[in-house]
Amino acid sequence: MKKEILPLSALLFDSENELPEEDLKLLIEARLAAQKAYAPYSRFKVGAAVKLANGIIIQGNNQENAAYPSGLCAERVALFYAHAQYPDVAVESIAITALGNKGLINEPLSPCGACRQVMAESEKNSNQPMRVIMQGQQGPVMVAESMKVLLPFSFLDEYLHKYTNTTI
Ligand code: THU
Repeated sequence: MKKEILPLSALLFDSENELPEEDLKLLIEARLAAQKAYAPYSRFKVGAAVKLANGIIIQGNNQENAAYPSGLCAERVALFYAHAQYPDVAVESIAITALGNKGLINEPLSPCGACRQVMAESEKNSNQPMRVIMQGQQGPVMVAESMKVLLPFSFLDEYLHKYTNTTI
């Protein structure tokens, strides 16, 4: 018997004007964050804004380094800061946007794999879905109702607890 095991969806809006107010507010925070990114090497400035269950909004942006791998993506800067400051508060949603230095970005920005992994663990720990709002500088906005849409069947700590005697 076949059964549907991933009944989740992503929505595509034509523009930010169609977004629920809360999502638009977070997207604007992400845009502000992108402008402050430190991206002298890639020239690709990414902004993220995280909304916590306590109402606090936290901005993050990519932080690059002359030793390239030492840098960090905007999403992880925002999430790690959020978890460092408010370790027990759930992340309700995250907005992600970007700007380059050549032409306007007119398509949703989809987070990298490493960020997805971190977002997935954050969602799992908070016991509630993390809404992900993605846009370039303008144009269509993609909204995923859970990280499970962006990283289905992810590797989580459950495997470690189930199959090892790790105490973490
Ligand atoms: N970057 C992010 O900040 N988030 C992503 O999801 C993808 C990539 C950054 C990393 C680097 O500073 C620049 O964009 C180019 O890869």
